[in-house]
Amino acid sequence: VTVGDRTAELPVLHGTDGASAIDIATLTKQTGHTTIDYGFVNTAATKSAITYIDGDEGILRYRGYPIEQLAKASSYLEVAWLLIYGELPTADELDAWDHRIRRHTLLHEDLKRFFSALPPTAHPMSVLSSATAALSTYYEHESDPDNPDHVELTTVRLLAKLPVIAAYAHKKSIGQAFLYPDNSLSFVDNFLRLNFGVMSEQYEINPVVSQALERLLILHEDHEQNASTSTVRLVGSTGANQFSSVSAGINALYGPLHGGANEAVLDMLARIRDSGESVQRFVERVKNKEDGVKLMGFGHRVYKNYDPRAKLVKESADAVLAELGVHDPLLDLAKELEEIALNDEYFQQRRLYPNVDFYTGVIYKAMGFPTRMFTVLFAIGRLPGWLAHWREMQYDPQKKIGRPQQLYVGSPERDYPR
Ligand code: MLT
Repeated sequence: VTVGDRTAELPVLHGTDGASAIDIATLTKQTGHTTIDYGFVNTAATKSAITYIDGDEGILRYRGYPIEQLAKASSYLEVAWLLIYGELPTADELDAWDHRIRRHTLLHEDLKRFFSALPPTAHPMSVLSSATAALSTYYEHESDPDNPDHVELTTVRLLAKLPVIAAYAHKKSIGQAFLYPDNSLSFVDNFLRLNFGVMSEQYEINPVVSQALERLLILHEDHEQNASTSTVRLVGSTGANQFSSVSAGINALYGPLHGGANEAVLDMLARIRDSGESVQRFVERVKNKEDGVKLMGFGHRVYKNYDPRAKLVKESADAVLAELGVHDPLLDLAKELEEIALNDEYFQQRRLYPNVDFYTGVIYKAMGFPTRMFTVLFAIGRLPGWLAHWREMQYDPQKKIGRPQQLYVGSPERDYPR
């Protein structure tokens, strides 16, 4: 095999006795390592004990617990604890942690000037990443990665403050006044109020909406070595604190191939609706690769089966729309698209199934979030995973600064012409 050749077959390794043979895919599965950088597609192997994915079977587990059970019976903070500390918390542990997080929700008043200095057209993801990096300037003296107390405090601060920054990014984008957090409310209810409450009016929490948002956040909490998580690990491996590392992760999540995909799905559905084109015709154009048109929210680098998160998101989409009495033609379009694609040989052969991004946008839209907030919601969901990976990397006794392997494919030595 020529390394870098994407068309080559995976090689079979023979033992020295010539008798035992093992293929690279089996070896990779057994050891958990990428043993060869096949086709120059991955950059390096990472050892981790946080999330398990079997993309062929469509299985996702956090610390060994199936995502379906966690999403139905746990809270966002309970799952965050599980990811970060490795065990489900006791009721007392969770209570104390929740209480501590609530006490840290306030942002420094000076940050208001930071927000107002940004243009009103700023994308909420850019606001989120820059304000998260800015948090570091307030807590530099208490965010030393080598000090365990600082690590705990910074974890709590990020969990407490990121949702507030996210809600402020939303309020700024629609020109409304920021609300102060109400710490009598749960994590999710506080977040909903900060986004949708207005000054001097009581905000009514809808329990169905609150439950659906909690579930969506849980489903996004971790997904092993995705682009943003590896970014957090890589940046953290340099000794950067959690504020800087998480801010880098937010930037990685921003792109349409990663967190930005939920926004791209909704844009795609709206374009189909507005064009008046039939879904069948749209699918044909995808198959024929006409005009570079793509079926967003379908297919995943890891899953060759239904993304288990997508099933749960679909259930929540139906529940939220029914509760709010919203009939969204985009949800009908999404379902029709899914049905046509799943019954089409083209998608079956390529094992392309809806992924987590396919239905999330429809729910967020029904809840009242503008499209540009969708990726921000992904970031709030993903925060515990980033923090868990940052710690796992930080506390690895064999920790080294990250350095993806390079395969040099440029010019050989050349004679300098001058
Ligand atoms: C995620 O949840 O991070 C996305 O599905 C992308 C990925 O896992 O690569």
